[in-house]
Amino acid sequence: MNEVIIINGPNLNLLGNREENIYGNKTFDEIKENCINYGKEKKIVIDFYQSNNEGDIIDKIHTVDTKYDGLIINPAAFTHSSIAILDSLRAIKKPKIEVHLSNIYSREEYRKKSITSEGVDGLICGFGANSYILGIDAIIKLIYK
Ligand code: DQA
Repeated sequence: MNEVIIINGPNLNLLGNREENIYGNKTFDEIKENCINYGKEKKIVIDFYQSNNEGDIIDKIHTVDTKYDGLIINPAAFTHSSIAILDSLRAIKKPKIEVHLSNIYSREEYRKKSITSEGVDGLICGFGANSYILGIDAIIKLIYK
């Protein structure tokens, strides 16, 4: 079975309790469970990972080419600042998609630039927790193309 990793950046562990008006009230664990279950329906294994530390996220991205068939990443605030995460995304060859719960293009000016999305195949944002589900559909399309 194909295996996909979903990497989550800083503060996403607080989902459900964090600016619910922007990010919704589903908890991190609920989103994780929904993704794993949706993956089962689609016959792919989902590994769900979260870290608040840039280096740990980069180390995890480095495992993608050898351990997984695709990557979905929500780099959270690192989206707008991390050239190091961009470089690590560019270094991997497997299909990769960036997702965001919120529509980063309808928010503050400093969120309108996604540095990390320059290193992925495509970007999905603005669908709340469903951005992850759409991300799974999209990564499947890329894996089987
Ligand atoms: C986010 C958007 C980022 O701008 C923000 O820093 C986050 C969450 C999203 O999923 O909408 O932490 O990545």
